[in-house]
Amino acid sequence: MMEHRDFLSITDLSFNEIEKIFSKAKEHKYSMPVQSLYGKSVVLVFEKASTRTRISFEVGIARMGGHPIVLTPEGTQMARGEPLKDTARILSGYCDGIVMRTFGHIRVEEMAHFASVPVINALTDLLHPCQVLADCFTLSQRFGELAGKKIAWIGDGNNMANSWINAAAVLGFELALACPEGYDPDQGIMDSALELGAQISVTRDPAAAAAGAIAVNTDVWASMGQEDEADGRRKEFSGFQVNGKIMEHAVPEAVFMHCLPAHREEEVTEDVLEGPQSIVWEQAQNRLYVQEAIVDFLLRQ
Ligand code: CP
Ligand code: NVA
Repeated sequence: MMEHRDFLSITDLSFNEIEKIFSKAKEHKYSMPVQSLYGKSVVLVFEKASTRTRISFEVGIARMGGHPIVLTPEGTQMARGEPLKDTARILSGYCDGIVMRTFGHIRVEEMAHFASVPVINALTDLLHPCQVLADCFTLSQRFGELAGKKIAWIGDGNNMANSWINAAAVLGFELALACPEGYDPDQGIMDSALELGAQISVTRDPAAAAAGAIAVNTDVWASMGQEDEADGRRKEFSGFQVNGKIMEHAVPEAVFMHCLPAHREEEVTEDVLEGPQSIVWEQAQNRLYVQEAIVDFLLRQ
């Protein structure tokens, strides 16, 4: 099997590698990328819905001269029960990289295990590393070095929260999470981050998490696959909305962040989402450049 690197989690990268990726992303943001993927094909396997991730990968690969192929399971032999481990080996024979969005994290791990080309996690139930890496790039463009600064997460301890924990461990910023009881982030991910010396706290008090933060982050209360829990979660999360009052606890130059799609008047009020502190459109735009840099980094190994 050919030697290759995967990107399943932010912890797959070192601090220095992330710096390199950010510097490449910056180049791609301000000038057209070189055709480093000329003659290469990357398959994008999407087992869940997506607007931003799918289109930004597809456009990014094309901008670098590569050929993106989007595969949704319907219409493939995957939907008819062909094992993932067989699909992984077949796709590796035709393509130079695999991007995958799926449900259980174990599926992307299985894909990576059996593929002989780099596999990129485009979101699982456990992690969303491409989004959070792009978000850290967005913050670093605005605030410089993130180490030592405080970032807040308010809401569900979900795939986004887990990836923020991983990012705090590698990039050295302080992360304060406020989650309702029963909706804490993954304990294993927390423990590993704490072992690495990360400064992470979990509270039930959104104002305390936001206090002194440079960025206040949130996400939907019911993620993809949790649609049946949406009504119950709306009650459980009612005190965890990001609104103007919560933003007042952050530093005056603080930004509001959301990976999108957003549910207005649930996890965030319309005035915050559309207000002057919101950088949600910039975050979404930067997905393109950071993902281009990730693909470039992995496919050059
Ligand atoms: N933020 C994000 O990943 O959006 P999509 O689900 O539209 O890809
Ligand atoms: N936590 C959300 C993120 C969507 C980009 C979900 O998994 O649905």
